[in-house]
Amino acid sequence: MCGIVGYIGYREAYPIVIKGLKRLEYRGYDSAGVMLYDGNDLKLCKTKGKVSDLEEKASKETTTNGTIGMGHTRWATHGVPNDVNSHPHVSNSGDLAIIHNGIIENYAPLKEELIKRGYVFHSDTDTEVLVNLIEEIQKKENLRLGKAVQVALNQVFGAYAIAVFDKKNPDEIVVARLGSPLAIGIGEGEYFIASDASPFIEYTSNAVYLEDGEMANIRLHKPMKVRKIKDDSLVDPYIQELQMNLEQIEKGGYDHFMLKEIYEQPNVIRDTYRGRLHANEGIIQMSGVEDNLEKFLNAERIIIVACGTSWHAGLVAEYIFEEFARIPVEVEYASEFRYRNPIIGTRDVVIAISQSGETADTMAAIKLAKEKGAFVYGVCNVVGSSISRETHAGTHTHAGPEIGVASTKAFTTQITVLTMIALRLAKAKGTLSNTDYHRYLQELEIIPEKVKEALETNDRAKEIASVFKDSHNCLYLGRGYNFPVALEGALKLKEISYIHAEGYPAAEMKHGPIALIDAQMPVVIIAPKQGHYDKIVSNIQEIKSRSGIIIAVVTKGDTQVRELADYIIEIPETSDALSPLITTIPLQLLSYHIAVMRGCNVDQPRNLAKSVTVE
Ligand code: M6R
Repeated sequence: MCGIVGYIGYREAYPIVIKGLKRLEYRGYDSAGVMLYDGNDLKLCKTKGKVSDLEEKASKETTTNGTIGMGHTRWATHGVPNDVNSHPHVSNSGDLAIIHNGIIENYAPLKEELIKRGYVFHSDTDTEVLVNLIEEIQKKENLRLGKAVQVALNQVFGAYAIAVFDKKNPDEIVVARLGSPLAIGIGEGEYFIASDASPFIEYTSNAVYLEDGEMANIRLHKPMKVRKIKDDSLVDPYIQELQMNLEQIEKGGYDHFMLKEIYEQPNVIRDTYRGRLHANEGIIQMSGVEDNLEKFLNAERIIIVACGTSWHAGLVAEYIFEEFARIPVEVEYASEFRYRNPIIGTRDVVIAISQSGETADTMAAIKLAKEKGAFVYGVCNVVGSSISRETHAGTHTHAGPEIGVASTKAFTTQITVLTMIALRLAKAKGTLSNTDYHRYLQELEIIPEKVKEALETNDRAKEIASVFKDSHNCLYLGRGYNFPVALEGALKLKEISYIHAEGYPAAEMKHGPIALIDAQMPVVIIAPKQGHYDKIVSNIQEIKSRSGIIIAVVTKGDTQVRELADYIIEIPETSDALSPLITTIPLQLLSYHIAVMRGCNVDQPRNLAKSVTVE
């Protein structure tokens, strides 16, 4: 998982590539590099660190002229992040340059073979093996770049999105994808290449997303040729009109993308249900569900597969589906599911949840479920992503681009979609009373207003953050629908502030974690009025009597928890089932402020990347 950018055309490539890499830094940011072709030679600059470090180095070390360029921002898989392992990698002759997102799994035997033939390797990467393999094939069989790339790719296995340039034929870049995304922007007399369309949206709104197993020869002043890597058959590329705009991918006055995305939630939840939820008419309509209603209604069970925050949304959905539609649900970490020979029947419906639509483990779980004959439904944010294409049908969340590595608006929009699916099935099955069905529809419609109100807890969250910013540990507790919110709250804190945090079902605390509680341990408890309120109050008392410090998220006007808690954050009232959409907001804000106060890089936390396209 890395970001790749390329340009071939009439403009100076360097600023386009650098700006593009900055937009793709969410995909990885431990090292970066750029290659420019100045009409004679390849100019290379690579460094450990971020794109800003690359810019600084490039300004001192190299000329940045040229109308052909390629750049890379890396999340290391093979070889530590350092200057040498950074991309682009150049072949032994110095003629070919490559950028690569993914993993070449059989690189070791290929490398051995190439070493025997006299090739020398400077880095520890699988990518340097690939570029030399292409060179070897090119030389041995006297092939043009495109053909050599194709032959090489038929010898490797793994995942890749690559762009390769050959200075002997400097009017073309060859690209290919298998398991990692690749978009090609088509302008007038110019082409753009990138892991997603964000690097080129100000230049063109026409893009082709390569499908898995496809490659393209991108030649100056010629139409692009797309073909299948396996059998060389030509493919008619589908040119899409991009919906994304520049404003969506910029910070819009916020200090961080994460904060912007937290504040976008009222709007994006509304965008997600717009045209699908008609509360006054009592209708929920999502074409993916309508077209496959029988499959959902005949489902023996629903299996949800996802990772990270999307998995937490799946857990919330488990409670909602079982309560509303009375369908048994299992929620699986995609990474475990794919490796444990799960029992899947043809009457199982598998729902795959993913913001990016590129998570490798979720993708593999989908493939497995399809092989076993299940109907697979996607809940994805990124239109055109691998997961939205690989699933049989699905519903997109309309969260817009989520750039902050910590997922926020994706979570609440996923819950919105999943709640609508559960309500639609409940209506068809008659498992909710008419009154409850209509009440939930009305309530979902006004959720954006309540989320807006919950955002008013920002100052309070900031105050509390200033007290706990130096904590070493933190416990998050919730029950029922809010147990997954506790997990999500803990994940947000640990991933951006590096404070160790655990989420637990509040009642489970007495089976172990209670031993951790002392006067230094902040315990965040989600205690809205609806739900298991009395039980939560008892849990709070148990913590109190062991000197724990309590930060409670409560319903406005609460009196009982207020008396017991050290700090309270008040949120508007909602039904139990919809409360995760509200209770999660102050937890996002709390983590955000703690991370900022600790001086952490909120949008790009260490060791992480936005989409995890490796196993
Ligand atoms: O794109 P996906 O929803 O498939 O990503 C899944 C996880 O990698 C993601 O939610 C991750 O856990 C986030 N960093 C959480 O904030």
